[in-house]
Amino acid sequence: MNIFEMKPLPFDYDALEGISEKQIRYHHDKHYLSYVNNRNDIEQKLNDAREKGDFSAIRTLKLNESHNASGMILHELYFDCLGGKGGKPVERLTDKIDQDFGSFENWKKEFLAIAKSSRGWVLLCFDPSDGRLHNFSVDFHDIGAVWGAIPILALDVWEHAYYIDYGPDKEKYFEAFFNNLNWERISDDFDRI
Ligand SMILES: [Fe+2]
Repeated sequence: MNIFEMKPLPFDYDALEGISEKQIRYHHDKHYLSYVNNRNDIEQKLNDAREKGDFSAIRTLKLNESHNASGMILHELYFDCLGGKGGKPVERLTDKIDQDFGSFENWKKEFLAIAKSSRGWVLLCFDPSDGRLHNFSVDFHDIGAVWGAIPILALDVWEHAYYIDYGPDKEKYFEAFFNNLNWERISDDFDRI
């Protein structure tokens, strides 16, 4: 029995401006689903290993578990962040970004600089260890993660996220991403931390 299920897209496939239905269908229904399926497959293999007492493949299984679990979780956050009309964060998140980065514009400039340099993801996270927001660069899905930090905004910079719409012009994709952010939902999620 599968433990993990694919979450439905939280908006219509053709709802975004500048990110096409075809791009979203491939990204959500193929790429994201593959991480959910892989995670279920790894759970089954871990159960088999425990039943047999055979842990000869445990290193590979554990590396794949981290990669695919992180891929599943980050894609769910990415799609949850979209479906809005862009703009800026609201209320408490606005104040916190101003406090920790000086201004929304400063934060966005740093976030986009990381987006250009990262191989996987840029995350805006709240880190309880210092009580501050941080932009983290994550290669693949799990290299660059910081323990305990809570991701509240995720930008997928893997080529599969934008190549159908923009080819190598990822900066146009970043612009489209910002134009479709659902800041009310992101800000509400931050309020619950
Ligand atoms: Fe992706």
